[in-house]
Amino acid sequence: MTLNSASKLHVKARTAEYPLSACKRFCVSDDKVDWKVEFKEYSPVSYTAPSVERNPPWADVDVTKTSKTLKYNEIDGKVNRKSYTGVYKVSGNLPINPMGRTGVVCRGLLGKWGPNHAADPIVTRWKRDGQKRLIQHKKTQKPILQFVAIQRKDNKQWAIPGGMVDADEKVSVTLKREFSEETLNSLDANAEEKRKIYDQIKKLFKHGTVVYKGYVDDPRNTDNAWMETVAVNFHDDNGESVGRLPLSAGDDAGAVAWIDVGRELTLYASHEELIKKTSEIHSAHW
Ligand code: BGC
Repeated sequence: MTLNSASKLHVKARTAEYPLSACKRFCVSDDKVDWKVEFKEYSPVSYTAPSVERNPPWADVDVTKTSKTLKYNEIDGKVNRKSYTGVYKVSGNLPINPMGRTGVVCRGLLGKWGPNHAADPIVTRWKRDGQKRLIQHKKTQKPILQFVAIQRKDNKQWAIPGGMVDADEKVSVTLKREFSEETLNSLDANAEEKRKIYDQIKKLFKHGTVVYKGYVDDPRNTDNAWMETVAVNFHDDNGESVGRLPLSAGDDAGAVAWIDVGRELTLYASHEELIKKTSEIHSAHW
């Protein structure tokens, strides 16, 4: 399952300036993204962010500096190194990005060599007027979907409130945890409030529809480390459950809001595509 057509792959993952750094990617033209196309002059820049070099608990060892090998393409202890794209190649000690060249080698801002797994909860409701009637878009005559979006603190872009799957964590747990932390500020809640938030979320998140599972064209991707995600839609059709939750930004989120779904949206990484797919599932305005 891919989000973009092959020719559009690695758009964000070839942005000249690597995020939060002075590092500039080696320029890769559209026709040279595919590894199968010869590119003799290819001389990617090596970059590992200081936050990763400090060796935090969420990061792997630097395999370029040790003889330790990681169990690529496997569940390696608590870390899932399997890719949704299938078996990826490993060259020497380094996993190879299955979607092609990015102009950068090593891990950049990503902690894991190979796939870095995320999960994206897409929480939706219908846009309604004061009388609770669905509002239709003037042009398409289709009802307008709204989703819970956060403004990321790192780059100020609006995004789905997703996050990384922690070691040993089930994706279903990540979805609930990230949503609660970023949009309901559960991290700052007291024990009683926390219990209430989790009770509500548990109910709401029982029935989800998988919108996408696979590789993500993310600006942090490199030739040896990349993002993958599972995006799941939780839809509140009558607006009585999630639709009524009091939103409050927390953790990596600077702001949180219900945002109208439409083609004019500009969102982080591949999130526009994920939201577009969600609008299709509900035959909503796009
Ligand atoms: C974000 C997810 C996003 C993924 C891939 C993660 O850091 O939290 O929302 O889908 O990266 O771009």
